[in-house]
Parts: sequence; structure tokens; C-alpha cells
Amino acid sequence: MTTKGQPQRQYLKDYTAPAFQIDSVQLYFNLHETATRVKSKIQFKKSAQQPLVLNGENLKLISIAINDKKLDSSVYTLTDETLTIAQTPDQFELQIEVEINPEANKSCEGLYLSQGIFCTQCEAESFRKITYFMDRPDVMTKYTVEIEADEKKYPVLMSNGDCIDKKSLGGGRHYTKWIDPFKKPAYLFALVAGDLGVVQDHFVTKSGKKVDLFVYASHGKQDRCHFAMESLKKSMKWDEERFGLEYDLNQYMIVSIDDFNMGAMENKGLNVFNSRLVLADEKTATDNDFHSIESVVGHEYFHNWTGNRVTCRNWFELSLKEGLTVFRDQEFSADMNSAAVQRITDVDRLRARQFSEDAGPNSHPVRPESCLAVDNFYTATIYEKGAEVIRMMQTIVGRDGFRKGMDEYFKRHDGQAVTIEDFAAAISEPNGQDFTQFKRWYSQPGTPIVTVQENFSNDGTYTVTLTQSNADLDNQKKNQPFYIPLKFGLITNEGQEIEKGLWILKDPTQTWTFKNLKAKPTLSLNREFSAPIKLKWSMPHSEMLNLIKFDTDAFNKREACQKMLLDECLRLITALDAGQNVTVKTEIIEALGHLLKDNSLDPEFKSLILSLPMDLVLAQEVAVLNPVSLAQSKKMIVKEFVNKYKTDLIAAYQAHHAKNTRGDRALKNLVLGLLCSAQTTEGHDLAEKQYFSAANMTDSIYALIAIGHFDSSAQQKANADFYNKWKSDSVVFNKWLNVQASSQHEKTFERVQHSMTVQGFDSNTPNNIYNLHGVFGNNFLRFHTVEHNTYQWYCQELLRVDAVNPQVAARMAQAFNFTQKLPANLKQAAQTEISKLLNNPQLSKNARELLEKCL
Ligand code: BES
Ligand code: ZN
Repeated sequence: MTTKGQPQRQYLKDYTAPAFQIDSVQLYFNLHETATRVKSKIQFKKSAQQPLVLNGENLKLISIAINDKKLDSSVYTLTDETLTIAQTPDQFELQIEVEINPEANKSCEGLYLSQGIFCTQCEAESFRKITYFMDRPDVMTKYTVEIEADEKKYPVLMSNGDCIDKKSLGGGRHYTKWIDPFKKPAYLFALVAGDLGVVQDHFVTKSGKKVDLFVYASHGKQDRCHFAMESLKKSMKWDEERFGLEYDLNQYMIVSIDDFNMGAMENKGLNVFNSRLVLADEKTATDNDFHSIESVVGHEYFHNWTGNRVTCRNWFELSLKEGLTVFRDQEFSADMNSAAVQRITDVDRLRARQFSEDAGPNSHPVRPESCLAVDNFYTATIYEKGAEVIRMMQTIVGRDGFRKGMDEYFKRHDGQAVTIEDFAAAISEPNGQDFTQFKRWYSQPGTPIVTVQENFSNDGTYTVTLTQSNADLDNQKKNQPFYIPLKFGLITNEGQEIEKGLWILKDPTQTWTFKNLKAKPTLSLNREFSAPIKLKWSMPHSEMLNLIKFDTDAFNKREACQKMLLDECLRLITALDAGQNVTVKTEIIEALGHLLKDNSLDPEFKSLILSLPMDLVLAQEVAVLNPVSLAQSKKMIVKEFVNKYKTDLIAAYQAHHAKNTRGDRALKNLVLGLLCSAQTTEGHDLAEKQYFSAANMTDSIYALIAIGHFDSSAQQKANADFYNKWKSDSVVFNKWLNVQASSQHEKTFERVQHSMTVQGFDSNTPNNIYNLHGVFGNNFLRFHTVEHNTYQWYCQELLRVDAVNPQVAARMAQAFNFTQKLPANLKQAAQTEISKLLNNPQLSKNARELLEKCL
């Protein structure tokens, strides 16, 4: 192995337009497991007097010619990463043949083999691992692809666009030819070849075109493809109705693959999906899995317009396609399911992942200014905060105004590679808006903090003063004021809503006044989470209860309860850290009891209003992150709640167990978790019974998790039963790994290490690493301890993974995001191991860029 050169930092400000345009490209793949030949013909046109520089990595150059004339090795230069031709005609065809080894490629990038299936992943910069090319998103061109392969082993051969030829070649080989009529950047190229089963259907677009739809998976899994197919049809319909966007090719293919770094990829006409996001039936997928599949199928489909037809000028503009497409998939999910539940879970994820990213060492703007590894751009900030920024645009210009802006965006930019600025202009101009200040959301990092001050005077005048300040990240320039749209409502003590509307906070401080009120109203602020900010606000308990009871905004109804629980956890943590005796406030427990018994609430909503704040959220609020007190604070609340309301909880369990809808299962399983976390024998027995009689995966997995709170023989029996049932089913086996690694049980680390030795575990499969190592790295209580050298083990594993798959290692590195906040002994132990990794010259730039920031 060779040591890599110093990785180069890239800058947004250094962008220059490409020196060559490509009219079209023809690729010929002769597929062999260990020696695939790729012939390319590329028609170039020069647009600036510069040498031709092509990207290429790990390629064996077989031949190179211009206009059929072989090039002498003196006229081009090869490095590890480029092929440069100093002198070229103004217009010419370049002909190249390279050889690559898909079998040896374990990085899941470029062309690789997954369980005997040839498959590609090119985003962001891996087309260059397939052949020499201008591998940048602003070089868009039309592709023709021919594929030749063994007829028996690879009966299905696919690429982007439409299949225009298919024949046997004799000698056991066969051939197909594909044309994609739309210009696209190289990152959207795809090829799949294998022996696959398929589910087929069709969709008729609003203009009457019939589109053939295919979902491919390994044989025997077809029965698990129907839900993804239904989701695809729903997505196609929704994009027509909401945005007037119609599908543009004659066929659409989805392929399910077991070895995949990401969730799914939007290659033009040929999406590749991680099998966990395609395969589903009642027996193998949870309710949450079904929901994720619907949303991810939607997401990749929506990219066809936001990403593929209009793409990014360069990778600094990634949020142009990802933020916008996440926003679109969130809106789709909200329309297909409960909008309130969708918004609550989207914001939960934003707060857990993005707010903590923005409060930690990897804080960056939605449009970053520099980077080492482009792969590291695929962050919660680019995706989820990016989506929030789009959502704020829609709030500001209204739903119809936003549609008008989207129409304008496609009118202006179809077929182009553009910037976030272009998008903002297309939305604001037709709506007569000036987004100058608003666009700071793209350039300034950090979560804005808005402080709330209320005043009510005897003459009935009520004022609200809001002050914005940026998060106090010490190494950061002070931000300029943001443009913050805040939905609000005012509620009387009797539960009447007397005002509602939208405030725009754009100055550092602004005041709003209401006159002639009878009493101080309760303010419901940032309804629907209309802006991604943190509120600093000491709201009296009585007002929280007022919102929990009366708020017409479901998001804020639940938010009030979360705030109440968060405040209580923080009070408990402070006391525990100081070694003080402390008990949970009775009024908190009673509020929970009230909600539990309120039968007017939708059960799924109730399961959300009754959940305790997530560790990742608590961690942002404490000065020192002591994982033991964090866990303890929540445990205390659960114990009190269960002690006081055990009968009601068991009754609720039984009632919702009997009804058995998606929402009922959510609430029932939350209750089961509470009963078991509090170590009740009733909980234990219910979990055992539920596990061994479960009719669906939702019930079996939650029972398995719940019984994991005990060290009983039933727990061991259930755990072994699950493993034996599912060890050969890759998708479900990952769930078992996840259960082992996420448990709060003291034996968790032992179980994690053991899990690596069981049959079914493959240390090169990304999903296995994510579900075992990744999940363990996020298990605050069991990972952050000096007891078992967990850090040392984790870092050794990280290095091992990094050698074959840097992207997966980079995800593992995120477990150290909270290092700075840990108590001194843990911090030191972690930093010792991180330093060892950084001192290793073999460490990839992906992991390096993230770990450097943790010291
Ligand atoms: N374009 C991405 C997939 C991708 C990301 C490929 C990074 C290569 C490098 C795709 O559209 C995507 O965003 N997938 C998400 C799921 C989505 C629903 C947020 C993923 O894979 O996590
Ligand atoms: Zn995406």
C-alpha cells in the first residue's frame, strides 16, 4: 500500500468553468469479475485554451487515441488522479480503453460486485474509478452505453435511459445497448448486471404516456418489492399534482443491493437502493421501515427534476439538490400520512442530528466554503437544515408563491448545472421578494438563538420582545442577523385562540404589541417549527400546561410537553452531577398521566407526546456530558411515571394491543418500553408474550428491545430465537445487530464484540458496521466509559474499516463529535485514541477531516 499524498483543501471561491464541453459519450463495458474492460469515445469541444485534464483513479490504461490516432506516451501525463493531454484540437473524439477490477473493490464506489451483482455508485466523485472523464457535475452530456457479460451469471443488464438493443453474442455472452436522451453529469451514470428477480407495473402520466416500472431484487425477494412499487407510483402522482412535474423517460428501474454505503441513489432512470430501503413485508419490516421506504423512494424519484434535470454547478452547491429534495420528500410524506406526526419526527431528527452537528466541531454553513473530502459533505446540515431553509422560503412566499417560483426555476434552468443563488432568485423574483438578508441562512453556520421576553401591564397591553443572537461558538465570527419567519398564536387561560399569524424577526431585537387584553395570554411561538432556531424562554409551568391542553398547533402542543420534560431532565442532571439528592416533580408525572388517559389524542401522536427527550438533544443542553447522569435522569422520570400509573399503562397496553393499527402499535410499544425500563415484572411478562406471539416485525423487534432491559432466561431465549430465525436474512439480521448495540444493559460491549463472531456478520458490509459499530458509537452510556477500553477497540475497528471503505469509516468517526464535552477522564481517553489514528499516515482524508476537529 502506498502512502497518500497530503490531501488538498478545495474552496468554493476557486470555482472556474470547465475548459472543455462534451457533446456526447459512448461507453462499452465488457464485464468480467476481476478484469472489466471499459472502452469510451468522448466527443470534446474546447472552450478555453487549456490542457485537457481528466480525472481517473485506480485505472489501468490499455490504450488512448484521438480521432483514431494512437497517442504516444510522450504527449500525455498520468498521475494517481489525472490524465493530462497538453495539446488537443479544438474539436475531437478521444478514445480510451481501461481495465478495472470490480471484485477487489470493497469501497462500494465505482463499479463493484455485491453478492454476485455488478453495480455502480458514482456520486460524488467515483465515475473516475470507472474510466477517465471530466468528473464534475457541471459537465453534462448524453450517454450511450453498451454492456457485454456472461449470459448465465448476468441475465439482466441495465443502464440509464431506454434499452434499444438486446442480443446473444454466442460463446455464453450477451449484450444490451442503452441510450439516455437527457444530458446528465457523470455522477448520475449507473450500470447494474446480475441474476435478479423483478416486480413490474406501469404508470400513466398526466399527459397520457405509459411508463414501465420495475423493482429488481435477488430471486425470492419479489414478494417484498410491492410496497416500494406502490410508493413509486404514489410519488409519480404526487409530483404531478403538487409541482406539475411529469416523468420524462419510458421506464423507471429500482434495484435493491445489499452492499451500499448510503440509503439510495437517484441515477437517471436506474435508482440503486440499499436493500433495507426496498424490501419490506409485515414479517420482516417495521412500521417505521415502511414509512422510510415510502419517503426514500419518493426522495430519489423527486431528484429526477431537482437534481437530475437541473443539477449542481459544483459540490459546494449540494444543498441545491439535497435540501430541496428532502423538503419535497417531507411534504410528500406529510401528504401521504399524518402531517403533524411527520413534522414532529422531522424536527426531532433535525434537532438530534443537525443541531448537534452545528453545535459541535463539524459546524458548517448549508453552502460550505471549503472541504477536504467531498464525501463528507453529505451532512445533516446540507440535507436537513437545507430543507428547513427551503421550507422557510415557502412560508415567506406562501404555498402558491412557492409553486410559482418552482415553475420559474425549471423554466430558467432545465438542462443546466446551477447554484443556490440561481434557485433563490427563481423563487424570490416572481414573488417580488428580496432574499438578500434571507440568504444568510446559506452562508452563516450555527443555530440562531431567539430570546423571548413578555410583558403584560394592567391596562391590558401585552408585548413580546424577541432578540436574536447566534449560538456562542467561540471560534466563530459573529453572525449578521437572520431573517426568521415565526408562526405564532395567542391562547387565553380558558383555551381560546385570540390571535394567530406570522412574525418576521429580522432585526437584532423587535417588539410586538397587543392591546386591550383581559389577561396575559399564553404565547405559542414558532408553530410548526417555522424556523430552525432555539428559543430561550423561561415559560411558567402553568403556561406549558395551557399549551399542552389547548394549543391548536399539534407541533407546539407536543413541544410544550417536550420542553417541560427537557427542563426536568436538566434539573435532575445538574443535581445528580453535583451528588445531590433529588426527586422528580410530581406535577410533571401528573401531566404525563393526564396525557396517557386522554382518549381524544391520536395514539401515534400520543406516543410522541409521551416520549422523553433524546440523548442527542439533552447533550446539547449540558455543559459537561456525563452519560451516566443523562441516563439516570430519564430513568428516574420513567420509574416515577410507571410507579404512579402502572395500572393505566397496562390497561393502555392491552387496549392498543387489541386494536393493532400502526398508531396503536406505536403507543403500545412505547408503553411496553416504559414498563420494562422501570423493571416491572408485568413489563417483562408482556414483552415475553408479545415476542413469542408477534405477528409482525414491529411487535417482535420492540418486544426484543424491551425484554433487553432484563437479564432473564426469557431474554436469552428471545434473543437467540431472533438470531436463529433471521441470521441468513441480511436486512433483518441488521436489526438484531442494532438491538445488541443499542441496549443500555451493562453487558452491551461484550455482546457487541460477540456479535462480530457470529455467522452472518461480514465486516466489509456497510450495513453490518452501521448497525453494530455505528449504533454502539452512539450509545452514550455504554460507549463513553473508561471501563472496557471501548475507545481503543472502536478506533482499531475504524482503522480496519477505513482501509477498505473510507466512507463507512467517516461515519464511524462521528461517534467522537461530543468529545469536547465529555468529563476530563473520558475526554482524555478518547483523545489519546483519536491522536493515534491521526498519526497513522494510512488514515483516509474522509475520517481525518472529521477526527482532526475532535482534538
Ligand atoms: N444522492 C444521494 C445519495 C448519495 C449521497 C450518494 C452521497 C453518494 C454520496 C441520495 O439522493 C440521498 O440523498 N440519499 C439519502 C436518503 C435520502 C432519503 C435522504 C441517503 O442515502 O441517506
Ligand atoms: Zn438525495
